Amino acid sequence: MKRILITGGAGFIGSHLCERLINEGHDVICLDNYFTGSKDNIRHLLDNHNFELVRHDITSPYFAEVDEVYNLACPASPPYYQYNPIKTMKTSIYGAMNTLGLAKRIRAKILQASTSEVYGDPEVHPQPESYWGHVNPIGIRSCYDEGKRAAETLFMDYYRQNGVRIKIIRIFNTYGPRMNPNDGRVVSNFIMQALRNEDITIYGTGLQTRSFQYIDDLIEGMTRMMATGDDFIGPVNIGNPGEFTMLELAQKVIDLTNSRSSIVHMPLPGDDPQQRKPDISLAMEKLNGWQPQIQLEEGLKKTITYFENHL
Ligand SMILES: NC(=O)c1ccc[n+]([C@@H]2O[C@H](COP(=O)([O-])OP(=O)(O)OC[C@H]3O[C@@H](n4cnc5c(N)ncnc54)[C@H](O)[C@@H]3O)[C@@H](O)[C@H]2O)c1
Repeated sequence: MKRILITGGAGFIGSHLCERLINEGHDVICLDNYFTGSKDNIRHLLDNHNFELVRHDITSPYFAEVDEVYNLACPASPPYYQYNPIKTMKTSIYGAMNTLGLAKRIRAKILQASTSEVYGDPEVHPQPESYWGHVNPIGIRSCYDEGKRAAETLFMDYYRQNGVRIKIIRIFNTYGPRMNPNDGRVVSNFIMQALRNEDITIYGTGLQTRSFQYIDDLIEGMTRMMATGDDFIGPVNIGNPGEFTMLELAQKVIDLTNSRSSIVHMPLPGDDPQQRKPDISLAMEKLNGWQPQIQLEEGLKKTITYFENHL
């Protein structure tokens, strides 16, 4: 049994990770300030004596004796990370420094939940980890993209300078139950609009592509990454290489929900990437043959069932 700290543990991904690690018999501290997360996401774990909930903002230092740290705290959806962009930067950067400082002091392993956004609007397709990205440093998405890039830099410097036992994963678009239905991400937007028979809003032509990973595949990749030896630190892409246009996604959601919704187009927001698709060969090689098991239709069905119950 390990003692594990998960920052951002009450969020979408964090709550699934808490559940997985509790089910494996570990002692889990879930730290969150509830900016985008919710106690509802982890309510079912509260009675477990191995589970501890801490209200804390990771921009301030936090101390605990643990063996592993998963650093997930950061709003991930554009309307929320753009709500207070300075705070988003602080969460990424001070959050990285505070968790890395802790990991250094107690010799814990620490994993950073980085993102495919570090590749920006990519000129290389699909994106391998060796690609440095094409990111606008002064746009409306920069607080998130550059915050996450700076966090990766801090991880690498704590590793080189202090020998901290780091792991960096770059998560590609992930969806599933417990996504906030109103947080403005494309999968939750489309499903909610379809279930309510409202117009489905597509930004731009709808020909831009994304790859969608089901939450269980991410959690499997994440925990496998944490379990690797100290010689493999990443960064490693964790995502599903299946590539879909926004129009294809909208149509699939309409079909699966038997919705009467129509598709409408709205202007594209600034710096919206045109295409995204992970090259996952490194993950397959280093994480014992890990690869996504759940394809889009199956994952969408599970997510739609969750949102139906939520409504
Ligand atoms: N979901 C995705 O597709 C995706 C893709 C790439 C990277 N990620 C990364 O994974 C992590 C989790 O994302 P998610 O989709 O679960 O988002 P989420 O918004 O559901 O979860 C983030 C959690 O962090 C908490 N938080 C935010 N600021 C905090 C602070 N200052 N102190 C303490 N807690 C704070 C929120 O309350 C929330 O519970 C994020 O770091 C995100 O950048 C997610």
